[in-house]
Amino acid sequence: MSTNRTANLSDSTSGKSSELPVLQGTLGAPVIDIGRLYKDTGCFTFDPGFVSTASCRSAITYIDGDEGVLLYRGYPIEQLAKHSSFLEVSYLLLNGDLPNQKQFDDFSHEVTHHTMMHEALKSFLNGFRHDAHPMAMLCGVVGSMAAFYHEQLDMDDAEHRRLAAIRLLAKVPTIAAACYRYSIGWPIRYPRNNLEYVSRFLHMMFEVPSEPLELPPVAAKALDLLFILHADHEQNASTSTVRLVGSTGANPYACVAAGIAALWGPAHGGANEAVLKMLEEIGTADQVGKAVEKAKDKTSGFRLMGFGHRVYKNFDPRATIIREMCHKVLDELGVHDPLLDVAMKLEEAALKDDYFVQRKLYPNVDFYSGIIYKALKIPTEMFTVMFAIARTAGWVAHWLEQQADPDGKIGRPRQIYTGAASREFVQMDKR
Ligand code: CMC
Repeated sequence: MSTNRTANLSDSTSGKSSELPVLQGTLGAPVIDIGRLYKDTGCFTFDPGFVSTASCRSAITYIDGDEGVLLYRGYPIEQLAKHSSFLEVSYLLLNGDLPNQKQFDDFSHEVTHHTMMHEALKSFLNGFRHDAHPMAMLCGVVGSMAAFYHEQLDMDDAEHRRLAAIRLLAKVPTIAAACYRYSIGWPIRYPRNNLEYVSRFLHMMFEVPSEPLELPPVAAKALDLLFILHADHEQNASTSTVRLVGSTGANPYACVAAGIAALWGPAHGGANEAVLKMLEEIGTADQVGKAVEKAKDKTSGFRLMGFGHRVYKNFDPRATIIREMCHKVLDELGVHDPLLDVAMKLEEAALKDDYFVQRKLYPNVDFYSGIIYKALKIPTEMFTVMFAIARTAGWVAHWLEQQADPDGKIGRPRQIYTGAASREFVQMDKR
């Protein structure tokens, strides 16, 4: 971790300086530890959006944005996408290593037997309007789990924390499917233990009491792949939110509800819903040129959704994998979706355009995921919920890592104050 390198920072006005240690992780750029800077120089640092700032140590996920590399616990995403399953990846994220057969069977058994949601949680659903956005419902219902399991949660007990993580991984799909079914007026389906994680979720979403559900095999395969690709992405906005809330010692269900709220925004997980809406608005391939011009015009307030990434400045390795699966799903289901033609034309036009080339804006993971969800008949408003189910694995892995960190501190950023300087209170009749 520490190296012999140091970085010197001096304030030319006060003449004060600080010799700062330079840290090095297993992979990635060296990191200047500025913890003592204020003590030595009386200065803070300013980095809105954490563009150059590491907020924690983590051994879970590594991204090299220039090379398009994504590793979960050291394993390349391409290999996990090809050989693994979402549940196995969840074990990996939570525990640090791939499981052997017995470890996997035990984990799978445990997750499967925690999938039921408390019956009383159903009455929360009834309180929502029928047209409530499922992300709003998911956020509220997952947060309210804090009211159900608090007595079995001693935050200083590692086994209690692990169990909370398993509960979240197991119950979020059940709650997500229940939110969807409530919104369309269907009775809630209980989880079927004879199915594996993703098929169980699809049954809870689509099975009706009156007839058995026949799912094309590609449906579970595609969703499992999407879940693997979305499972974690190091210190993204929602994971950082889970960690920030977790740093206060808050209940894990409240932490994950906060993560769901952060994920919802269109700059983050809400982009998959926004991509589909954008493709529908563009409508036909011959309108793509106009959309590209509009995205380049800063006054339009319009961005190409599904393009660009804070970290990936070459390509998003998840987008490459998803693109291939997207074609496979449409072929196997025999779906001809004109939106795919629009998407391909848009991708081609943007990749040739100087504006996008110079800014290194490439299609990200969300560019193709919406088309797959649409082909699987998942409604647009559920797209970000899909992302939330998968990202729960990453959120709980980070929460567990953070809670076990002996150097953990409450997250408490500083600021540049730009308000009024100290002034005297004026009585109302004198203002
Ligand atoms: N369309 C048009 N211009 C863009 C886009 C876009 N999608 N993204 C960035 N730019 C421009 C931006 O206007 C700026 O231009 P200039 O340098 O002339 O001011 C430049 O590129 C850099 O953009 P930025 O906003 O400073 O970059 P950022 O790292 O803060 O933002 C981003 C990253 C993902 C929020 C942004 O690219 C974006 O809004 N993309 C669309 C939303 C989206 O697809 N989000 C999903 C992200 S991947 C899934 C996830 O991790 O949640």
